[in-house]
Amino acid sequence: MNAPFVAVVSDIDFRTDHGSALGQRLNDLLSACGVVVVKNQSLTPPLFMRAIEHFGELMPQQIKKFTLPDYPLVGFNSSNDLPRKDGKLQVRGENYHTDHSNELTPPRATALHAVQVPATGGDTQFVDVRAAYDDLPDDVKGKIDGLFSLHVHQSSKSPRSLAKLTAEQLALIPQTRQPLAIKHPTSGRPALYLNTGRMEGIEGMPEQQAYALIEYLYNHATNPRYEYRHRWQIGDVVIWDNQAVMHQANADYDPAEYRYLLRLMIKGVALTPHRTTA
Ligand SMILES: [Fe+2]
Repeated sequence: MNAPFVAVVSDIDFRTDHGSALGQRLNDLLSACGVVVVKNQSLTPPLFMRAIEHFGELMPQQIKKFTLPDYPLVGFNSSNDLPRKDGKLQVRGENYHTDHSNELTPPRATALHAVQVPATGGDTQFVDVRAAYDDLPDDVKGKIDGLFSLHVHQSSKSPRSLAKLTAEQLALIPQTRQPLAIKHPTSGRPALYLNTGRMEGIEGMPEQQAYALIEYLYNHATNPRYEYRHRWQIGDVVIWDNQAVMHQANADYDPAEYRYLLRLMIKGVALTPHRTTA
């Protein structure tokens, strides 16, 4: 694996292996890396829930129409979630982002389990936003110190369309001001915290300047040097730390092929700004 922030586990079976020792091992891997890939699993929704509970308490998904009626904490991501546009496939999660960043306590982690995947395409890409922060020039680190952005359901400058909601549904979706640079909740490492689909400018900064800075940081953080690209195989479980990496989906596969993954999220904590000076 040529991405230093990804661990691959191929010697466990979540159907039979569980217990605190396994949970500790997996949590240590997730904390040390940022993305953990567990191969060759075959999990029903309740078994997937039990597997991911090794990482903490499960968190409800914001958009209820993409959850299982019998297991409301379990979301799904399918090739039929969105209508085709001029015959072309539309998928959720395009453009690099971190999940539910508009929550006061965004999820610590998100997990997907591949049930059905296309022959080619439909990869998920990840970038390490801790390494991206480390590589920023010092003057940029200083410039973003103490800056906050309001994360809403969908930014007025969003490059992607998020789920269309009724006024009643929208009223239930939170919005939260988040730091541009966070102190990672467990490791303490600084990391960029960006979500161009949700960031509504930068507090105290003129609009044009704010979006130019967001674009600069986003382009920097999504450089391929920080990337791991996951090519899904049926049975994969991938769990990632939402405060260590951003991720994005790809709508690049044959719309006639069916893709279906189960999705779970783990509760997180309110984010702390990273300060360049103590
Ligand atoms: Fe996502």
